[in-house]
Amino acid sequence: MNKATRKAVIAGNWKMNKTPAEATALINDIKATIADKKTDGCDIIVGVPFVDLAAAVEAVKDSAIKVAAQNVHWAEKGAFTGEISAEMLKAVGVEYVIIGHSERRQYFGETNETVNQRVKAALAAGLKVILCVGELKDERLLGITEEIVAMQTKVALNEISAEDMKNIIIAYEPVWAIGTGLTATPAQAEEVCAAIRKVIAALYDCTLAEATTIQYGGSMNAGNAAELLSMKNIDGGLIGGASLKAPDFATIIEAAQA
Ligand code: PGA
Repeated sequence: MNKATRKAVIAGNWKMNKTPAEATALINDIKATIADKKTDGCDIIVGVPFVDLAAAVEAVKDSAIKVAAQNVHWAEKGAFTGEISAEMLKAVGVEYVIIGHSERRQYFGETNETVNQRVKAALAAGLKVILCVGELKDERLLGITEEIVAMQTKVALNEISAEDMKNIIIAYEPVWAIGTGLTATPAQAEEVCAAIRKVIAALYDCTLAEATTIQYGGSMNAGNAAELLSMKNIDGGLIGGASLKAPDFATIIEAAQA
C-alpha cells in the first residue's frame, strides 16, 4: 500500500472556539461551501469543544463530515471533576477524538504516559483516535526531532495492537509551527512523517506502516496545503486557525482530492 491507496484525512481542530449555535452555523457553512465540490477523495472531520459535540453531531447528519472531541479521560467513570469519558463521547455520537495535542501537553500536564492511557480508553470504547506528536523549537534546534517524535509515538502506542492501529491516525505537529504562521517546509514535514512511518514499521510491520494515515499540522492553510499534501508521506492535515473559516477549510479539502 502507498499514498495512492491511503485515503487523505482533513481534520479541523477548532480548539476553544465557537458556542453550540456558532458550531452549527460553521458546519452549515462548510457543508454549503463544499456542496458542489469533489470531496470523496478525503475524509473530513471537525474537532469541536465538548459542549458543541451534540450540536455538531446533529449538524453533520446529512453530510460526509465526522465529529471529533478534543480530549478524553482514561477512566470509565468516577471522581474526576471536569473530565469526560470515552463512553460519554460515544453516547453523543462522536466518532473521533484528538489525543495528545501539544496544547494539552504544554498547558495541562499531558505526558506520553497519560496520552497512552487515553488512547487505550478511546479505542476500547470504539472511538477512532487522532494521536498528536511533535517537537518543540529547542528540540529541533538540538537536532533531536526524530528521537522526540519516535519516543512520543512509541509510548503513546504502548500495548496497542496491530488491529487497533486501523483506528489510529497520527498527526505530526511541530509545536513551533502551531498557531504561529510558521509552517514546516514540505521537506521538513515529509522528513518527520517518513520517520514516524519507520517507527510504526519497527513497532508492527511495513504493511501496517504503509496503511497508517499520517497528517501534518501547524499553520496549514489554504495557500500551503496543496504543496504539503503532495508529499509522499503526508496523508492529510490537522488544521487549527484555517479550519474556522469555511472557504479556507474547503480549499484545503479540495487540495486533498488529488
Ligand atoms: P494551527 O493549529 O493550524 O492554527 O497552527 C494546528 C493545530 O493545533 O492542530
